[in-house]
Amino acid sequence: MNVGVVGLGYWGPNLVRNLYESHLCEQIYCCDLDDAKAEKIKSRYPTIITTRDYKELVQNPEINGTVIATPVSTHFPLAMEFLEAGKHVFVEKPFTPSPEKGAALVAKAEEKGLIVMVGHTFEYSPPVIKIKEIIDSGELGKIYYISASRVNLGLHQKDVSVIWDLAPHDFSCLFYWLGEQPKRLSAMGRDYVLKGVPDVAFINMEFASGCTAHVQVSWLAPSKLRRTAIIGSEKMLVYDDTETMEKVKIYDKGVDYKDPETFGEFQLSYRSGDIISPRLDTFEPLNREMRHFVECCEKGLTPKTDGHNGLRVVKALDAAERSLRAGGKIVEIA
Ligand SMILES: NC(=O)c1ccc[n+]([C@@H]2O[C@H](COP(=O)([O-])OP(=O)(O)OC[C@H]3O[C@@H](n4cnc5c(N)ncnc54)[C@H](O)[C@@H]3O)[C@@H](O)[C@H]2O)c1
Repeated sequence: MNVGVVGLGYWGPNLVRNLYESHLCEQIYCCDLDDAKAEKIKSRYPTIITTRDYKELVQNPEINGTVIATPVSTHFPLAMEFLEAGKHVFVEKPFTPSPEKGAALVAKAEEKGLIVMVGHTFEYSPPVIKIKEIIDSGELGKIYYISASRVNLGLHQKDVSVIWDLAPHDFSCLFYWLGEQPKRLSAMGRDYVLKGVPDVAFINMEFASGCTAHVQVSWLAPSKLRRTAIIGSEKMLVYDDTETMEKVKIYDKGVDYKDPETFGEFQLSYRSGDIISPRLDTFEPLNREMRHFVECCEKGLTPKTDGHNGLRVVKALDAAERSLRAGGKIVEIA
């Protein structure tokens, strides 16, 4: 398989590194509007063929799949052109800037019998996969609520709010773990530094299962937090992605309500048992992700993070942005 990569800014070179160093494909073609970025990648990986015009990749019959790592506003037109030209596409998160555009890409890929995969990298990471196994095993019991914080002194984006920049990660993890998307949500936020571009947001979600979730995202915080707490009826779990060793901890803690024997009696029993940190695999998520893309293209498999998976995240991002702009109004998600 021959792969084209469009976009060699901050993120694209990480995707190229995995494709190249793990020999995942035969020939890699790279493209960036900035010649210096293309030259830099060629100096590191000499066999790569570079261009500044993505149309050369669209028209190249040798290329079977394309990886798009450009800003979100360009994802839709680029992905559509590559699909039209009969090439599988991998699109970085967030999939598209609107649900309509995401749905159009999914429909086009289905019409053409092509793969469309979205770069929800965390769904390929060992702690996130382990948490999915733990939740599915029933060890935590019924999931009551999830609370996630993704904040730091981040790079302010000009074109998208902090919701579109940071929340795709938490949304994709939450929906993957719970196996559902929220039925409604609301978001509060502010544009403290750059007027018109919200840099802090607090998002509340409600799922059909009864689970609720809170996601806090910000580019305006003194230190980096990547912490998610999952509270179940049996146990509680904390996932801290800034930890180097014990990223996931399971707390045997909880409160049980006992039916009163006499009227007016009220009994709660508190549990506080062991704290266990499960062993995690050590593979690089991006490597898994790129390997999975190539394998799905070669074998015609449906990717774990396919277009539908990308679309459910885009629907929630769009709803959160609309709610924030409407002062925290509750938005129903179809
Ligand atoms: N999965 C992750 O964890 C993760 C992390 C960071 C970024 N991303 C995503 O990756 C994408 C790129 O982000 P970034 O931070 O690398 O952006 P960036 O601005 O650093 O780089 C984008 C590059 O795309 C190039 N480009 C734009 N339009 C082009 C076109 N038509 N043809 C060729 N080149 C073009 C630009 O010249 C630039 O070099 C975004 O969608 C972002 O959300 C994902």
